Amino acid sequence: MVRKRTSIHGEWTSRWAFILAATGSAVGLGNIWKFPYITGENGGGAFVLVYLICIALIGIPIMMAEVMIGRRGRQSPVNTMYTLGIESGSTPHWKWLGWLGVVAGFLILSYYSVIAGWALDYIFKMASGTFTGANADFVSSTFGSFVKSPLSLIFWHSVFMLMTMFVVARGVNGGLEKAVRFLMPGLFILLIIMVGYAVTTGEFMRGLQFLFEPNFDNLLYKHEAGGKFILTDQGEKIFTLEYVLIAMGHAFFTLSLGMGAIMIYGSYLPNKTSIAKTSIIIAAADTLVALLAGMAIFPIVFANQLDPSAGPGLIFSTLPLAFGNMPGGTLFGTLFFILLVFAAWSSSISLIEPAVAWLVENKGMKRLKASVLMGVACWLVGMLTVLSFNVWEKVYPFNFWVFKNKTFFDVLDYLTANIMLPLGGLLIAIFSVWIMSTDSSSDELEMKQSALSFNIWYFMTRYITPIAVIFVFANLLGFI
Ligand code: PHE
Repeated sequence: MVRKRTSIHGEWTSRWAFILAATGSAVGLGNIWKFPYITGENGGGAFVLVYLICIALIGIPIMMAEVMIGRRGRQSPVNTMYTLGIESGSTPHWKWLGWLGVVAGFLILSYYSVIAGWALDYIFKMASGTFTGANADFVSSTFGSFVKSPLSLIFWHSVFMLMTMFVVARGVNGGLEKAVRFLMPGLFILLIIMVGYAVTTGEFMRGLQFLFEPNFDNLLYKHEAGGKFILTDQGEKIFTLEYVLIAMGHAFFTLSLGMGAIMIYGSYLPNKTSIAKTSIIIAAADTLVALLAGMAIFPIVFANQLDPSAGPGLIFSTLPLAFGNMPGGTLFGTLFFILLVFAAWSSSISLIEPAVAWLVENKGMKRLKASVLMGVACWLVGMLTVLSFNVWEKVYPFNFWVFKNKTFFDVLDYLTANIMLPLGGLLIAIFSVWIMSTDSSSDELEMKQSALSFNIWYFMTRYITPIAVIFVFANLLGFI
Protein backbone atom coordinates (compact mmCIF):
# COMPACT_ATOMS: atom_id res chain seq x y z
CA MET A 1 0.00 0.00 0.00
CA VAL A 2 1.28 3.48 -0.83
CA ARG A 3 1.89 5.44 2.29
CA LYS A 4 3.62 8.63 3.40
CA ARG A 5 4.20 10.63 0.28
CA THR A 6 5.88 13.97 0.80
CA SER A 7 4.82 17.25 -0.70
CA ILE A 8 7.20 19.12 -2.96
CA HIS A 9 5.72 22.38 -1.71
CA GLY A 10 6.76 21.83 1.90
CA GLU A 11 4.90 21.03 5.10
CA TRP A 12 3.32 22.92 7.98
CA THR A 13 5.60 23.18 10.97
CA SER A 14 2.97 21.74 13.30
CA ARG A 15 -0.65 20.79 13.69
CA TRP A 16 -1.37 24.29 14.96
CA ALA A 17 0.15 25.80 11.89
CA PHE A 18 -2.33 23.83 9.82
CA ILE A 19 -5.23 24.78 12.07
CA LEU A 20 -4.27 28.43 11.79
CA ALA A 21 -3.83 28.34 8.05
CA ALA A 22 -7.05 26.43 7.46
CA THR A 23 -8.91 28.75 9.81
CA GLY A 24 -7.32 31.61 7.91
CA SER A 25 -8.74 30.14 4.74
CA ALA A 26 -12.16 29.52 6.24
CA VAL A 27 -12.63 32.82 8.06
CA GLY A 28 -12.92 35.60 5.56
CA LEU A 29 -15.40 37.72 3.70
CA GLY A 30 -17.74 34.76 3.78
CA ASN A 31 -18.25 35.15 7.51
CA ILE A 32 -18.34 38.88 7.91
CA TRP A 33 -19.58 40.19 4.59
CA LYS A 34 -21.56 37.38 3.01
CA PHE A 35 -23.18 35.56 5.93
CA PRO A 36 -25.00 38.65 7.25
CA TYR A 37 -26.27 39.80 3.89
CA ILE A 38 -27.53 36.45 2.68
CA THR A 39 -29.12 35.86 6.06
CA GLY A 40 -30.83 39.21 5.64
CA GLU A 41 -31.98 38.38 2.13
CA ASN A 42 -33.28 34.97 3.05
CA GLY A 43 -35.35 35.85 6.05
CA GLY A 44 -33.13 35.19 9.08
CA GLY A 45 -33.60 32.41 11.66
CA ALA A 46 -34.67 29.42 9.60
CA PHE A 47 -31.92 30.12 7.10
CA VAL A 48 -29.34 30.32 9.88
CA LEU A 49 -30.62 27.07 11.37
CA VAL A 50 -30.24 25.21 8.08
CA TYR A 51 -26.81 26.71 7.63
CA LEU A 52 -25.76 25.47 11.08
CA ILE A 53 -27.14 22.01 10.39
CA CYS A 54 -25.24 21.92 7.11
CA ILE A 55 -22.00 22.89 8.87
CA ALA A 56 -22.41 20.05 11.35
CA LEU A 57 -23.78 17.28 9.14
CA ILE A 58 -22.16 18.08 5.81
CA GLY A 59 -19.35 20.53 6.43
CA ILE A 60 -17.38 18.70 9.09
CA PRO A 61 -17.48 15.26 7.40
CA ILE A 62 -16.46 16.77 4.07
CA MET A 63 -13.71 18.77 5.66
CA MET A 64 -12.35 15.56 7.14
CA ALA A 65 -12.61 13.86 3.78
CA GLU A 66 -10.80 16.69 2.04
CA VAL A 67 -7.96 16.89 4.52
CA MET A 68 -7.62 13.14 4.41
CA ILE A 69 -7.53 12.98 0.63
CA GLY A 70 -5.10 15.88 0.53
CA ARG A 71 -2.70 14.33 2.99
CA ARG A 72 -2.82 10.99 1.22
CA GLY A 73 -2.17 12.49 -2.20
CA ARG A 74 0.23 15.25 -1.14
CA GLN A 75 -0.02 17.16 -4.42
CA SER A 76 -2.25 19.78 -6.01
CA PRO A 77 -5.90 18.66 -6.02
CA VAL A 78 -5.77 17.81 -9.74
CA ASN A 79 -2.79 15.49 -9.32
CA THR A 80 -3.95 14.16 -5.98
CA MET A 81 -7.27 13.09 -7.46
CA TYR A 82 -5.50 11.62 -10.45
CA THR A 83 -3.11 9.62 -8.29
CA LEU A 84 -5.67 8.46 -5.78
CA GLY A 85 -8.12 7.62 -8.57
CA ILE A 86 -5.58 5.14 -9.90
CA GLU A 87 -4.43 3.98 -6.47
CA SER A 88 -8.01 3.13 -5.53
CA GLY A 89 -8.46 1.02 -8.64
CA SER A 90 -10.95 3.51 -10.06
CA THR A 91 -10.06 5.88 -12.88
CA PRO A 92 -7.58 8.74 -13.37
CA HIS A 93 -10.58 10.78 -14.55
CA TRP A 94 -11.10 11.80 -10.93
CA LYS A 95 -8.67 14.52 -11.85
CA TRP A 96 -11.65 16.39 -13.31
CA LEU A 97 -12.89 16.83 -9.79
CA GLY A 98 -9.61 18.61 -9.12
CA TRP A 99 -10.22 20.78 -12.15
CA LEU A 100 -13.72 21.66 -11.05
CA GLY A 101 -12.12 23.01 -7.88
CA VAL A 102 -9.43 24.92 -9.71
CA VAL A 103 -12.02 26.67 -11.85
CA ALA A 104 -14.28 27.37 -8.87
CA GLY A 105 -11.40 28.84 -6.86
CA PHE A 106 -10.35 30.98 -9.77
CA LEU A 107 -13.85 32.34 -10.34
CA ILE A 108 -14.41 32.97 -6.65
CA LEU A 109 -11.15 34.86 -6.33
CA SER A 110 -12.11 37.08 -9.27
CA TYR A 111 -14.97 38.60 -7.28
CA TYR A 112 -13.56 38.02 -3.83
CA SER A 113 -10.71 40.35 -4.66
CA VAL A 114 -13.10 43.11 -5.73
CA ILE A 115 -15.03 42.93 -2.46
CA ALA A 116 -11.81 42.75 -0.43
CA GLY A 117 -10.90 45.92 -2.31
CA TRP A 118 -13.98 47.59 -0.83
CA ALA A 119 -12.70 46.71 2.62
CA LEU A 120 -9.30 48.16 1.73
CA ASP A 121 -10.89 51.42 0.73
CA TYR A 122 -12.87 51.47 3.98
CA ILE A 123 -9.68 51.31 6.03
CA PHE A 124 -8.85 54.75 4.70
CA LYS A 125 -12.37 56.07 4.94
CA MET A 126 -12.43 54.99 8.56
CA ALA A 127 -9.01 56.31 9.45
CA SER A 128 -9.75 59.72 8.00
CA GLY A 129 -12.83 60.08 10.17
CA THR A 130 -15.29 60.15 7.25
CA PHE A 131 -18.00 58.56 9.34
CA THR A 132 -17.57 60.38 12.64
CA GLY A 133 -21.04 61.24 13.86
CA ALA A 134 -22.54 60.13 10.55
CA ASN A 135 -26.19 59.13 10.11
CA ALA A 136 -27.57 56.18 8.17
CA ASP A 137 -28.27 58.17 5.01
CA PHE A 138 -24.76 59.48 4.81
CA VAL A 139 -23.23 56.05 5.35
CA SER A 140 -25.43 54.43 2.69
CA SER A 141 -24.87 57.17 0.15
CA THR A 142 -21.10 57.07 0.73
CA PHE A 143 -21.14 53.38 -0.11
CA GLY A 144 -23.46 53.99 -3.06
CA SER A 145 -21.22 56.55 -4.66
CA PHE A 146 -18.10 54.49 -3.95
CA VAL A 147 -19.31 51.44 -5.86
CA LYS A 148 -20.58 53.62 -8.68
CA SER A 149 -16.98 54.45 -9.54
CA PRO A 150 -15.39 51.67 -11.59
CA LEU A 151 -11.98 53.28 -11.32
CA SER A 152 -11.91 53.18 -7.52
CA LEU A 153 -13.03 49.58 -7.57
CA ILE A 154 -10.42 48.65 -10.15
CA PHE A 155 -7.72 50.37 -8.16
CA TRP A 156 -8.44 48.51 -4.92
CA HIS A 157 -9.09 45.24 -6.73
CA SER A 158 -5.61 45.58 -8.24
CA VAL A 159 -4.02 46.30 -4.87
CA PHE A 160 -5.65 43.27 -3.30
CA MET A 161 -4.73 40.99 -6.18
CA LEU A 162 -1.12 42.11 -5.91
CA MET A 163 -1.14 41.36 -2.19
CA THR A 164 -2.45 37.88 -2.89
CA MET A 165 0.09 37.18 -5.60
CA PHE A 166 2.87 38.37 -3.35
CA VAL A 167 2.17 35.72 -0.72
CA VAL A 168 1.33 32.96 -3.17
CA ALA A 169 4.57 33.55 -5.05
CA ARG A 170 6.55 33.07 -1.84
CA GLY A 171 4.78 29.84 -0.88
CA VAL A 172 1.91 29.63 1.53
CA ASN A 173 3.56 27.92 4.44
CA GLY A 174 5.78 30.75 5.57
CA GLY A 175 4.54 34.09 6.75
CA LEU A 176 0.94 33.00 6.64
CA GLU A 177 1.23 30.94 9.81
CA LYS A 178 2.64 33.85 11.74
CA ALA A 179 0.19 36.40 10.43
CA VAL A 180 -2.86 34.29 11.19
CA ARG A 181 -1.68 33.66 14.74
CA PHE A 182 -2.25 37.33 15.63
CA LEU A 183 -4.94 38.14 13.24
CA MET A 184 -7.60 35.68 14.22
CA PRO A 185 -7.59 36.56 17.92
CA GLY A 186 -7.54 40.25 16.96
CA LEU A 187 -10.54 39.92 14.70
CA PHE A 188 -12.31 37.97 17.36
CA ILE A 189 -11.78 40.60 20.04
CA LEU A 190 -12.97 43.38 17.75
CA LEU A 191 -16.10 41.46 16.88
CA ILE A 192 -16.85 41.07 20.56
CA ILE A 193 -16.41 44.82 21.04
CA MET A 194 -18.86 45.38 18.20
CA VAL A 195 -21.38 43.00 19.67
CA GLY A 196 -20.93 45.00 22.87
CA TYR A 197 -21.82 48.12 20.95
CA ALA A 198 -24.80 46.37 19.36
CA VAL A 199 -26.16 45.71 22.85
CA THR A 200 -26.37 49.46 23.38
CA THR A 201 -28.39 50.14 20.23
CA GLY A 202 -31.64 49.19 21.92
CA GLU A 203 -32.48 46.62 19.25
CA PHE A 204 -30.17 43.84 20.34
CA MET A 205 -33.01 41.45 21.13
CA ARG A 206 -34.65 42.11 17.80
CA GLY A 207 -31.35 41.35 16.10
CA LEU A 208 -31.03 38.09 17.99
CA GLN A 209 -34.61 37.18 17.20
CA PHE A 210 -34.02 37.79 13.54
CA LEU A 211 -30.93 35.59 13.60
CA PHE A 212 -32.19 32.75 15.73
CA GLU A 213 -35.98 32.59 15.57
CA PRO A 214 -36.84 30.32 12.67
CA ASN A 215 -39.64 31.23 10.30
CA PHE A 216 -39.84 28.33 7.89
CA ASP A 217 -42.16 30.06 5.45
CA ASN A 218 -39.32 32.40 4.62
CA LEU A 219 -37.13 29.42 3.90
CA LEU A 220 -39.44 27.19 1.92
CA TYR A 221 -41.41 29.54 -0.30
CA LYS A 222 -40.27 31.82 -3.07
CA HIS A 223 -40.00 35.40 -1.94
CA GLU A 224 -38.45 38.66 -2.96
CA ALA A 225 -35.37 39.89 -1.16
CA GLY A 226 -37.53 41.99 1.18
CA GLY A 227 -39.51 38.93 2.30
CA LYS A 228 -42.69 39.42 0.21
CA PHE A 229 -43.92 36.04 -1.03
CA ILE A 230 -44.26 35.42 -4.74
CA LEU A 231 -47.63 33.79 -5.46
CA THR A 232 -49.04 31.57 -8.20
CA ASP A 233 -51.99 32.68 -10.30
CA GLN A 234 -54.18 30.97 -7.73
CA GLY A 235 -52.63 33.07 -5.01
CA GLU A 236 -50.68 30.20 -3.49
CA LYS A 237 -47.12 30.38 -2.26
CA ILE A 238 -44.53 28.67 -4.44
CA PHE A 239 -42.48 25.94 -2.72
CA THR A 240 -38.75 25.97 -3.34
CA LEU A 241 -35.61 24.56 -1.80
CA GLU A 242 -33.51 27.30 -3.34
CA TYR A 243 -32.90 29.04 -0.03
CA VAL A 244 -31.90 25.73 1.49
CA LEU A 245 -29.45 25.42 -1.37
CA ILE A 246 -28.10 28.87 -0.61
CA ALA A 247 -27.65 27.96 3.07
CA MET A 248 -25.93 24.73 2.08
CA GLY A 249 -23.79 26.46 -0.53
CA HIS A 250 -22.74 28.94 2.07
CA ALA A 251 -21.70 26.18 4.45
CA PHE A 252 -19.30 24.99 1.73
CA PHE A 253 -18.16 28.50 0.92
CA THR A 254 -17.50 29.59 4.46
CA LEU A 255 -15.53 26.45 5.32
CA SER A 256 -13.61 26.67 2.02
CA LEU A 257 -14.89 23.24 1.02
CA GLY A 258 -15.61 21.55 -2.27
CA MET A 259 -12.85 23.13 -4.33
CA GLY A 260 -9.59 21.74 -3.04
CA ALA A 261 -8.44 24.62 -0.82
CA ILE A 262 -8.63 22.55 2.32
CA MET A 263 -7.41 19.55 0.35
CA ILE A 264 -4.23 21.33 -0.65
CA TYR A 265 -3.68 22.62 2.88
CA GLY A 266 -4.17 19.04 4.02
CA SER A 267 -1.48 18.00 1.61
CA TYR A 268 1.00 20.04 3.64
CA LEU A 269 -0.18 18.49 6.89
CA PRO A 270 2.35 16.45 8.85
CA ASN A 271 1.45 12.82 9.40
CA LYS A 272 0.14 11.89 12.82
CA THR A 273 -2.37 14.65 13.27
CA SER A 274 -5.95 13.99 14.27
CA ILE A 275 -7.96 15.12 11.30
CA ALA A 276 -11.30 14.86 13.09
CA LYS A 277 -10.43 17.11 16.03
CA THR A 278 -8.73 19.58 13.76
CA SER A 279 -11.75 19.82 11.46
CA ILE A 280 -14.13 20.38 14.35
CA ILE A 281 -11.97 23.17 15.77
CA ILE A 282 -11.82 24.92 12.39
CA ALA A 283 -15.55 24.62 11.75
CA ALA A 284 -16.39 25.86 15.25
CA ALA A 285 -14.12 28.89 15.00
CA ASP A 286 -15.52 29.76 11.60
CA THR A 287 -19.12 29.48 12.74
CA LEU A 288 -18.50 31.57 15.82
CA VAL A 289 -17.05 34.40 13.77
CA ALA A 290 -20.07 34.40 11.45
CA LEU A 291 -22.57 34.41 14.30
CA LEU A 292 -20.71 37.22 16.07
CA ALA A 293 -20.76 39.23 12.86
CA GLY A 294 -24.50 38.67 12.59
CA MET A 295 -25.03 39.69 16.19
CA ALA A 296 -23.05 42.86 15.65
CA ILE A 297 -24.79 43.85 12.44
CA PHE A 298 -28.51 43.13 12.76
CA PRO A 299 -29.15 45.21 15.89
CA ILE A 300 -27.62 48.16 14.05
CA VAL A 301 -29.80 47.40 11.04
CA PHE A 302 -33.00 47.46 13.08
CA ALA A 303 -32.04 50.37 15.31
CA ASN A 304 -31.54 52.53 12.22
CA GLN A 305 -34.51 51.23 10.20
CA LEU A 306 -32.14 49.87 7.57
CA ASP A 307 -33.13 47.08 5.22
CA PRO A 308 -31.76 43.66 6.28
CA SER A 309 -32.03 42.53 2.67
CA ALA A 310 -29.89 45.37 1.33
CA GLY A 311 -27.55 42.87 -0.33
CA PRO A 312 -23.76 42.92 -0.74
CA GLY A 313 -23.46 46.45 0.63
CA LEU A 314 -24.99 45.51 3.99
CA ILE A 315 -21.90 45.61 6.21
CA PHE A 316 -20.59 48.70 4.47
CA SER A 317 -23.76 50.59 5.23
CA THR A 318 -24.15 49.38 8.80
CA LEU A 319 -20.79 48.97 10.51
CA PRO A 320 -19.45 52.46 9.71
CA LEU A 321 -22.56 53.78 11.40
CA ALA A 322 -21.60 51.97 14.59
CA PHE A 323 -17.98 53.07 14.41
CA GLY A 324 -18.97 56.64 13.63
CA ASN A 325 -21.03 56.82 16.78
CA MET A 326 -19.09 54.86 19.37
CA PRO A 327 -16.24 56.05 21.56
CA GLY A 328 -12.90 55.25 19.97
CA GLY A 329 -14.77 54.44 16.75
CA THR A 330 -12.14 55.79 14.39
CA LEU A 331 -9.52 53.51 15.87
CA PHE A 332 -11.75 50.46 16.17
CA GLY A 333 -13.21 51.01 12.73
CA THR A 334 -9.82 51.31 11.10
CA LEU A 335 -8.56 48.25 12.92
CA PHE A 336 -11.67 46.32 12.02
CA PHE A 337 -11.30 46.87 8.29
CA ILE A 338 -7.57 46.14 8.47
CA LEU A 339 -8.34 42.82 10.11
CA LEU A 340 -11.11 42.12 7.62
CA VAL A 341 -8.63 42.65 4.80
CA PHE A 342 -6.20 40.29 6.49
CA ALA A 343 -8.91 37.69 6.91
CA ALA A 344 -9.80 38.03 3.23
CA TRP A 345 -6.13 37.85 2.32
CA SER A 346 -5.56 34.56 4.12
CA SER A 347 -8.60 33.18 2.29
CA SER A 348 -7.71 34.47 -1.14
CA ILE A 349 -4.36 32.72 -1.01
CA SER A 350 -6.05 29.37 -0.60
CA LEU A 351 -8.43 30.10 -3.47
CA ILE A 352 -5.64 30.27 -6.00
CA GLU A 353 -3.15 27.86 -4.43
CA PRO A 354 -4.59 24.75 -6.15
CA ALA A 355 -4.11 26.34 -9.56
CA VAL A 356 -0.63 27.62 -8.79
CA ALA A 357 0.49 24.30 -7.31
CA TRP A 358 -0.71 22.55 -10.48
CA LEU A 359 1.28 24.90 -12.72
CA VAL A 360 4.35 24.28 -10.60
CA GLU A 361 3.90 20.50 -10.60
CA ASN A 362 2.85 19.92 -14.17
CA LYS A 363 4.30 22.79 -16.15
CA GLY A 364 7.50 23.08 -14.15
CA MET A 365 6.85 26.79 -13.64
CA LYS A 366 8.47 28.78 -10.90
CA ARG A 367 5.99 29.82 -8.20
CA LEU A 368 6.51 33.45 -9.11
CA LYS A 369 5.62 32.97 -12.76
CA ALA A 370 2.64 30.77 -11.93
CA SER A 371 1.32 33.30 -9.44
CA VAL A 372 1.66 36.24 -11.79
CA LEU A 373 -0.04 34.33 -14.57
CA MET A 374 -3.01 33.34 -12.45
CA GLY A 375 -3.15 36.75 -10.83
CA VAL A 376 -3.39 38.60 -14.10
CA ALA A 377 -6.02 36.25 -15.48
CA CYS A 378 -8.07 36.49 -12.32
CA TRP A 379 -7.72 40.25 -12.24
CA LEU A 380 -9.15 40.46 -15.75
CA VAL A 381 -12.15 38.28 -14.92
CA GLY A 382 -12.63 40.49 -11.86
CA MET A 383 -13.63 43.30 -14.21
CA LEU A 384 -16.98 41.57 -14.70
CA THR A 385 -17.64 42.04 -10.99
CA VAL A 386 -16.32 45.60 -10.91
CA LEU A 387 -18.78 46.58 -13.62
CA SER A 388 -21.69 44.68 -12.05
CA PHE A 389 -22.05 47.43 -9.45
CA ASN A 390 -22.12 50.36 -11.81
CA VAL A 391 -22.02 50.38 -15.62
CA TRP A 392 -23.51 46.88 -15.93
CA GLU A 393 -25.74 47.12 -12.90
CA LYS A 394 -28.76 46.25 -15.01
CA VAL A 395 -27.05 43.79 -17.34
CA TYR A 396 -28.28 40.25 -16.77
CA PRO A 397 -26.00 38.11 -18.94
CA PHE A 398 -27.71 34.74 -18.51
CA ASN A 399 -31.34 35.54 -18.08
CA PHE A 400 -32.73 32.05 -17.49
CA TRP A 401 -33.24 29.46 -14.74
CA VAL A 402 -31.62 30.44 -11.44
CA PHE A 403 -29.60 33.12 -13.18
CA LYS A 404 -32.62 35.32 -13.97
CA ASN A 405 -32.14 38.99 -13.09
CA LYS A 406 -28.62 38.37 -11.93
CA THR A 407 -25.63 40.56 -12.75
CA PHE A 408 -22.27 39.06 -13.63
CA PHE A 409 -21.29 39.23 -9.98
CA ASP A 410 -24.50 37.51 -8.87
CA VAL A 411 -24.06 34.80 -11.50
CA LEU A 412 -20.45 34.14 -10.51
CA ASP A 413 -21.39 33.99 -6.86
CA TYR A 414 -24.39 31.72 -7.42
CA LEU A 415 -22.62 29.43 -9.82
CA THR A 416 -19.58 28.92 -7.62
CA ALA A 417 -21.00 28.90 -4.09
CA ASN A 418 -24.33 27.20 -4.73
CA ILE A 419 -23.54 24.87 -7.60
CA MET A 420 -19.82 24.20 -8.06
CA LEU A 421 -18.85 23.87 -4.39
CA PRO A 422 -21.72 21.56 -3.38
CA LEU A 423 -21.10 19.51 -6.52
CA GLY A 424 -17.39 19.31 -5.70
CA GLY A 425 -18.25 18.40 -2.12
CA LEU A 426 -20.64 15.71 -3.27
CA LEU A 427 -17.98 14.13 -5.46
CA ILE A 428 -15.37 14.37 -2.69
CA ALA A 429 -17.76 12.60 -0.34
CA ILE A 430 -18.46 9.92 -2.91
CA PHE A 431 -14.79 9.44 -3.61
CA SER A 432 -13.75 9.19 0.00
CA VAL A 433 -16.22 6.49 1.00
CA TRP A 434 -17.39 4.75 -2.15
CA ILE A 435 -14.12 4.72 -4.08
CA MET A 436 -11.29 4.83 -1.56
CA SER A 437 -10.94 1.71 0.50
CA THR A 438 -11.93 1.83 4.17
CA ASP A 439 -8.41 0.67 4.94
CA SER A 440 -6.97 3.76 3.33
CA SER A 441 -9.43 6.18 4.85
CA SER A 442 -9.28 4.84 8.39
CA ASP A 443 -5.52 4.67 8.13
CA GLU A 444 -5.24 8.28 6.97
CA LEU A 445 -7.81 9.57 9.44
CA GLU A 446 -5.87 7.74 12.14
CA MET A 447 -9.06 6.08 13.35
CA LYS A 448 -9.74 2.41 13.93
CA GLN A 449 -12.40 1.00 11.64
CA SER A 450 -14.30 -0.20 14.66
CA ALA A 451 -14.18 3.19 16.41
CA LEU A 452 -17.48 5.00 16.85
CA SER A 453 -16.03 8.23 15.49
CA PHE A 454 -14.96 6.53 12.29
CA ASN A 455 -18.35 4.96 11.84
CA ILE A 456 -20.13 8.25 12.37
CA TRP A 457 -17.92 9.92 9.79
CA TYR A 458 -18.38 7.03 7.40
CA PHE A 459 -22.15 7.02 7.71
CA MET A 460 -22.48 10.76 7.28
CA THR A 461 -20.17 10.90 4.30
CA ARG A 462 -21.61 7.82 2.67
CA TYR A 463 -25.29 8.61 3.07
CA ILE A 464 -26.26 11.90 4.65
CA THR A 465 -24.09 14.25 2.62
CA PRO A 466 -24.77 12.78 -0.82
CA ILE A 467 -28.49 12.44 -0.19
CA ALA A 468 -28.80 15.99 1.11
CA VAL A 469 -26.90 17.52 -1.79
CA ILE A 470 -28.64 15.41 -4.44
CA PHE A 471 -32.05 16.20 -2.96
CA VAL A 472 -31.50 19.94 -3.03
CA PHE A 473 -30.02 19.80 -6.53
CA ALA A 474 -32.95 17.71 -7.75
CA ASN A 475 -35.35 20.36 -6.54
CA LEU A 476 -33.38 23.05 -8.27
CA LEU A 477 -33.39 21.11 -11.53
CA GLY A 478 -37.14 20.70 -11.24
CA PHE A 479 -37.14 16.94 -10.63
CA ILE A 480 -38.88 17.21 -7.28
N1 PHE B 1 -14.02 30.49 3.21
C1 PHE B 1 -13.71 31.76 2.66
C2 PHE B 1 -14.58 32.82 3.31
O1 PHE B 1 -15.45 32.52 4.06
C3 PHE B 1 -13.87 31.78 1.17
C4 PHE B 1 -13.26 30.63 0.48
C5 PHE B 1 -14.04 29.75 -0.24
C6 PHE B 1 -11.88 30.40 0.57
C7 PHE B 1 -13.50 28.65 -0.86
C8 PHE B 1 -11.32 29.29 -0.05
C9 PHE B 1 -12.13 28.43 -0.75
O2 PHE B 1 -14.42 33.98 3.07
